[in-house]
Amino acid sequence: MKILFLISEVEDIIKTGGLADVGKALPIALSELGHEVNIVLPYYKAAADSLQLSNTVSQQIIYTNGRNYAFDVKELNFNGIPVYFVDYPDYFNNDQLYSDDTSVSNAEKFTFFSLAALKVAEAVGFKPDILHTNDWHTSMACYFAKHSPLVYEYFAHTKSVLTIHNAAFQGTDHLNCIHSIDPSSPGMYVENDHLNMLKTGLLYADHICPVSTTYAQEIATPLGSHGIDDVIRHRINAVEGILNGCDYEQWDPSTDEFIAAHFSVDNMSGKAACKKDLQKTFGLILNAKVPVLGMVCRTTLQKGFGYLMPILEDILKHNVQIALVGTGQKDITEKLHSIAKNHPKQFVFIEDFKTDYAHKVEAGADFFLMPSEFEPCGLNQMYSLAYGTIPIVRGIGGLKDTIVDIDEAEGTGFIFQQPTPVALLSVIRKALLVRLEDSKKFHAVIKRGMQQKFTWKQAAEKYVKIYNKEKS
Ligand code: GLC
Repeated sequence: MKILFLISEVEDIIKTGGLADVGKALPIALSELGHEVNIVLPYYKAAADSLQLSNTVSQQIIYTNGRNYAFDVKELNFNGIPVYFVDYPDYFNNDQLYSDDTSVSNAEKFTFFSLAALKVAEAVGFKPDILHTNDWHTSMACYFAKHSPLVYEYFAHTKSVLTIHNAAFQGTDHLNCIHSIDPSSPGMYVENDHLNMLKTGLLYADHICPVSTTYAQEIATPLGSHGIDDVIRHRINAVEGILNGCDYEQWDPSTDEFIAAHFSVDNMSGKAACKKDLQKTFGLILNAKVPVLGMVCRTTLQKGFGYLMPILEDILKHNVQIALVGTGQKDITEKLHSIAKNHPKQFVFIEDFKTDYAHKVEAGADFFLMPSEFEPCGLNQMYSLAYGTIPIVRGIGGLKDTIVDIDEAEGTGFIFQQPTPVALLSVIRKALLVRLEDSKKFHAVIKRGMQQKFTWKQAAEKYVKIYNKEKS
């Protein structure tokens, strides 16, 4: 099958979060199954600066809503997959991918991009069986492929899939700010003159795939949907959750280039050296006996800081260390710095996003904290399992679908349910206690976790099943 894959980030080319991991791994897994995948990306400044590509076809012009958009198309061979770039400097030649403080609205940028990406496919002669879009940035392509006179003939036999990675972001703006679409175009999801790009895509995608089964259920409810449950319920027959995979080539403690020593489920001896290295690198007290809690994430409410902040000092009263790496909301990072100052060598917060630190935390910590408010899939809990670092998670979304609670027969981690600081504090205390008093159980949980496999091949096969269903 020919698959046109539209996403706003692809790891190794451009990355701000977990979306990029999927942007790389899923197309590769699909092409390994024998399908022909083409990706289209905006030619962001960072990509343009590092890649310096030349034009591949003639300049393209889109005439829409009384305006002409002329853009170039660049091409890159990425692991055998053609990646085309929409080169439109007015919109993409800036440092921030999704910054709101530019003169052009994000909604306009990505509405234009979604239309331009379809034009690119036509220009390079790639008529896809499947148009696979991801999140609000590219969801409008599902609408254009069916509705825009500029492209719908070319895509008349194309079926579309929209993967939801995070429904909290929907791409909304006043129609006056979105110039690349005629405000009177029929069938868009518009509320109070504001276009909702995600909801519009959801109305037209032939298939809707949230990134875990539990998240698929959550977004059908008012409480867990960030307000998209009306559309999800309307399209419920088209909704099917597909869990992301874990890239076990990048996340393998027996080969990982970022960690101090290698280990595997059959020979765990290197893990102690990784813990020592983590304590040393982060400036924690060197002590193998003290449990280390690791955390690598965006410092936002989504990741559970609303539950963590009120009890952080209480956790630190125990004989425990915390290594936290991340960037995000300023009020949270400021508070974290001030708590870290009061507990030097016990709690270290590194405000940065460094790949090697992420690997060091995964390898060296005893527990990995993911107390998320909501988590469509989550990837770090899968990395933690692979590194013998027991996840402590809230039982929602993809966390629920990947971790089994210690009290179950096949337990791989610790789960708490209630969205409260107290519930988080008790599950952490429980985890510390099990480590202290039941070493046999503790090590059985580690071993079981390391044997779990969530492969991209499995995920890609599920998508292919859906593509085939849509074709017949
Ligand atoms: C978003 C979600 C995260 C998911 C990732 C990749 O970042 O918040 O849960 O793992 O997308 O799908």
